[in-house]
Amino acid sequence: MLSAEQNERITQVGPGTPMGEMMRRYWHPIAASVELNDDTPTTEIRLLGEDLVLYRDAKGTMGCIEPSCPHRKANMSYGIPEPESLRCPYHGWLFDETGACVDQPSEPAGSRFKDKVKMKSYPIEERGGLVFVYMGPSPMPVLPMWDLFAWTNVGRRIEATVLPCNWLQCQENSLDPVHFEWLHRYYGNWVMARKMPPAQREEWAKRTQGKGRDHIKVGFDRFEHGIIKRRLVEGENEDDEYWKTGHPILFPNVLRVGGSDLHQFQFRVPIDDVTTYHVCYLVDVPAEGQDAPEQTEVPYWYRPLNGPDGRIDDRWVVGQDQLAWVIQGPRTDRPTEKLGATDVGLIMFRKMLEEQLRVVEDGGDPMNVMYEQPAAGYIPLAIEHARYPKGFNEGIQETRIGMVDVVKDLKEVPA
Ligand code: FES
Ligand SMILES: [Fe+2]
Repeated sequence: MLSAEQNERITQVGPGTPMGEMMRRYWHPIAASVELNDDTPTTEIRLLGEDLVLYRDAKGTMGCIEPSCPHRKANMSYGIPEPESLRCPYHGWLFDETGACVDQPSEPAGSRFKDKVKMKSYPIEERGGLVFVYMGPSPMPVLPMWDLFAWTNVGRRIEATVLPCNWLQCQENSLDPVHFEWLHRYYGNWVMARKMPPAQREEWAKRTQGKGRDHIKVGFDRFEHGIIKRRLVEGENEDDEYWKTGHPILFPNVLRVGGSDLHQFQFRVPIDDVTTYHVCYLVDVPAEGQDAPEQTEVPYWYRPLNGPDGRIDDRWVVGQDQLAWVIQGPRTDRPTEKLGATDVGLIMFRKMLEEQLRVVEDGGDPMNVMYEQPAAGYIPLAIEHARYPKGFNEGIQETRIGMVDVVKDLKEVPA
């Protein structure tokens, strides 16, 4: 159980708050590259409690600036893209992506007034079809080359949803394997039995029968990029990859998950204290010996939270997760929660959050802030029962169980 102050400490993300300052040490995806184009060159965004304007200028350079023009405060989301700059619609002042004012057409010839005018701006990097923003101090870290961004001969796609809840609810759920039995199996099957077209219900019941077996034990290992989550379910032993490999939670706000040929990141990006931009970054590995269809751009789909009935769309696994996060309320009331035996993973994660907050408060770099890419060019991550594209993530099918921090036996292993 946390005090009200501790709950605020780990959920508030505005400037000057402890978690806000830590979150500012990371690059965050806040849009898809294809969203900024000739038809819609500007968009209003909100990230870590700050309203901003994102734009692509007439040469394709992207900028992220404060929304109000310094002159008479017109909103720059109505700006006109020009080469290497954005022009305010009201009196034509021109700004580059560093926020510098580079032209004031109505000021007297020779005036240097523009040199005194500067807007707040943040650096941008486009990677794998996503637009990342860095809002932290110098020196600026690199945007880590996680495996899914480095792979070649794969298909990529992006699905995003804005959620009316704090980012930490999403992330804590990734440290809670046991919810699978109830949220996805019991509740999920109950939902599908009512919402599926009647003709498909029998087939659905057959397909899901026996799926999602009970957990025998769960385990959580600290590793250099976060926590590895393991589970042992009925009918399996410790040689199964669900136990010996597991999958990672990347500190502080990313889940790396997958299986078979579909891999994904889930980025839980704090828009503000009670709103999250949730990005599913999906990567398909083609069948052995096949080539992935060529992509000139990464497709993007905004997936609304609510379904056709106006309630949260719970007909798919991530939708059920989103339901669980949102129905805890805008910010989970942690001071009154009652944690049970299966909550060991999220307790471990909260301790890691506090530890890393102190690292930042002491002037250090928190986990996953890095200033150069690894020598191998990317960071491979092991995932249970996954197939990787040729030449990538080789030799990492097992993660180091020697570092086990927490194992919780939930049932006796049958003899
Ligand atoms: S308000 Fe932007 S140029 Fe005047
Ligand atoms: Fe889930």
